Amino acid sequence: MSNNLLQVDKLNTKIFHGDYTVDAVCDLSLELKEKEILAIIGESGCGKTMSMLSIANLIPQNAKVVSGQIIFNSKKLNISDEKELQDIRGSQISYVFQDATASLNPIFTIGEQIKEMFIAHNCFSPNKAKESASKVLELVNLKPAQKYYNYYPHQLSGGMNQKAMIAIAVASKPKLLIADEPTNSLDRITEITILKLLKKLNAEFNLSIILITHNISLIENFADTIAIMYAGRIMEKGLSQEILHSPKHPYTKALLDCLPKKGKELNAIKGSVPNLAKLPSGCKFHPRCPYVMEKCLKDEPDFVKISQEHSVKCYLQ
Ligand SMILES: Nc1ncnc2c1ncn2[C@@H]1O[C@H](COP(=O)(O)OP(=O)(O)OP(=O)(O)O)[C@@H](O)[C@H]1O
Ligand SMILES: [Mg+2]
Repeated sequence: MSNNLLQVDKLNTKIFHGDYTVDAVCDLSLELKEKEILAIIGESGCGKTMSMLSIANLIPQNAKVVSGQIIFNSKKLNISDEKELQDIRGSQISYVFQDATASLNPIFTIGEQIKEMFIAHNCFSPNKAKESASKVLELVNLKPAQKYYNYYPHQLSGGMNQKAMIAIAVASKPKLLIADEPTNSLDRITEITILKLLKKLNAEFNLSIILITHNISLIENFADTIAIMYAGRIMEKGLSQEILHSPKHPYTKALLDCLPKKGKELNAIKGSVPNLAKLPSGCKFHPRCPYVMEKCLKDEPDFVKISQEHSVKCYLQ
């Protein structure tokens, strides 16, 4: 039997914009083992957030998961059963949103917000919930807990608010934490602190993590696996070491070439991410690809398996 905690097969999400519809997530397939850390990488607008919101059943009202299958913790989820998805999402899958400060409730203290999670998900008494909230504050290094318990979000820095969001997310003892750019807009040191905190939670609680990030340079020692996204699709996925040191897809190579290198000029990928409403034919990266061939313009390539873990959506393999 597989030890996958999460298995997603050919998930498709559409966004309805009144007179037109866009395919925001296209045939998304991925697996996540227990305790695995997967990093999702791609330029802005590639569909990273929409993909993960689709898995967590948190997509906006004008969007719909139209097809595909999600197996979570050995249970096949019925993507049209709102109630079932809500139960699982609330207790076993937690989501840390892209903008932590906006996700916290400004009129309640951090401690009260964590306490509420313990009452809602674990049915704790108010006293026990308060005690547990203090423990979680300690766990995420918001110490002394008595002090931070009574702080309002506006009294905390961006990094502290991220830690508070993570505290709220782990209060329900989830099996999977999806963290959407939790280090966005934070300085480098705070960013490392947050990643270390996630790694600690991963090690101590066997927590599986999906991390959406732009910062490729910090994930080598953090993530076990990486999925590269472009135009609502995964273009390449595999073990972190393989993706970072032996990338196969021209898009992955281009992303890695954009990393700042000592003594070298900064690189950027030519062109821009396509508008999902006007996607090119064939391979969606072909207009920007330096290796484009005739067939790339016609048909979209399937995944080619490079190794057990490594696959790539490109004809060049
Ligand atoms: N609420 C929404 N309503 C309509 N379209 C949306 C909505 N949210 C996202 N989109 C569209 O879905 C596409 C994918 O957006 P998504 O937020 O998933 O990208 P992303 O890769 O997370 O980008 P970023 O790195 O900037 O966060 C974009 O074209 C975006 O305009
Ligand atoms: Mg996003």
